[in-house]
Amino acid sequence: MRFIGNKENLLNTINHALEQRNIKGKTFFDFFSGTTSVARFFKKKGYKVFSSDLLYFSYCLQYAYIKNNKEPDFKKLLPQINIKQSKLICFPLDIVIEYLNNIKSIKGFIYNNYSVSGTSHLEKQRMYFSDENAKKIDAIRIQIEFWKKEKVLTKEEYFILISCLIESVSFYSNVAGVYAAFQKKWDKRALKPFLLRRITLIFNNKKNEVFNTDSMQLVKNINTDILYLDPPYNERQYAPNYHILETIAKFDTPVIKGITGMRDYANQKSTFCRKDTALQSLSRIAKNANYKYLILSYNSEGIMPQENIIKILGNYGSVELVEFEYLRFKSNSNGNNNTKKHILEQLYILTR
Ligand SMILES: C[S@@+](CC[C@H](N)C(=O)[O-])C[C@H]1O[C@@H](n2cnc3c(N)ncnc32)[C@H](O)[C@@H]1O
Repeated sequence: MRFIGNKENLLNTINHALEQRNIKGKTFFDFFSGTTSVARFFKKKGYKVFSSDLLYFSYCLQYAYIKNNKEPDFKKLLPQINIKQSKLICFPLDIVIEYLNNIKSIKGFIYNNYSVSGTSHLEKQRMYFSDENAKKIDAIRIQIEFWKKEKVLTKEEYFILISCLIESVSFYSNVAGVYAAFQKKWDKRALKPFLLRRITLIFNNKKNEVFNTDSMQLVKNINTDILYLDPPYNERQYAPNYHILETIAKFDTPVIKGITGMRDYANQKSTFCRKDTALQSLSRIAKNANYKYLILSYNSEGIMPQENIIKILGNYGSVELVEFEYLRFKSNSNGNNNTKKHILEQLYILTR
């Protein structure tokens, strides 16, 4: 998924840095989980994984990828849906996805607020989704919620379907990476007909736990071998940049405003997006959480200065800084263009 700070392309580098130092254990906490790419990696490696994020759509992904530990059988739902199975289909999830891909489109919240025809009454029409794709997204989201109300889905099945939708939406959004702005011309990706795709599930037979909260509230209850921190690096809050994914996940028809149809995010602001509070928060985590190793991903352009980070972490054990060059995705200030930039990606490794 396109997500600021997604560590997908850095997983092997991070893992290598840990292995070289013989850093291992049984439990791993991904404290700022985002797309869950790091949590997934360590789940695959057999760790019992904990994860947390302020964003609700991240929580949906966490539930499906991290907490869930079985292939969903949709026992209650399948007898209710009539679908001719194609030979290629083998899992119940694929049957449900095929069903959802064939339901009738509906003009719902996404169509009415984020498609061109749905916003024709506005001075500036919103070009987030093609009309047809917006209606498809609405229909699928409404159907999933209907099944939930009818109690034909387990909690795991519900979050798996929401996650399939969230992951799929990313492939059809007319944005340059983030949802704080839509593109003024149609990107080719946005004009392709929407297709719901399945996500790849991972099983590790452990009681993994996931949270949708300000991670700072969890600090005192944490007890883990490896505590992995990947907080925001700059003033840019995450919630406004992914507001439409939040709305699709929450299905709560929020009051929205402005050219981009932004939902309120007052409760989802991160202290890591301000220099003074970021350092305080880092200090609170390092001091109060219970861990053997604290690994902080950061970069050379972050708002917390390197010397302050080393000083804070140094109060609780030995600190090593590992740096590697990385070609980072960067959207420019008005969100129209992507530029690539070399940045030093950093790993601060604190051994208690
Ligand atoms: C750099 S991104 C993490 C990227 C993630 N490692 C990945 O690979 O996708 C930072 C994440 O921290 C979350 N976040 C920021 N402040 C938070 C807080 N106080 N508690 C929980 N999550 C927070 C943001 O919502 C965002 O998802």
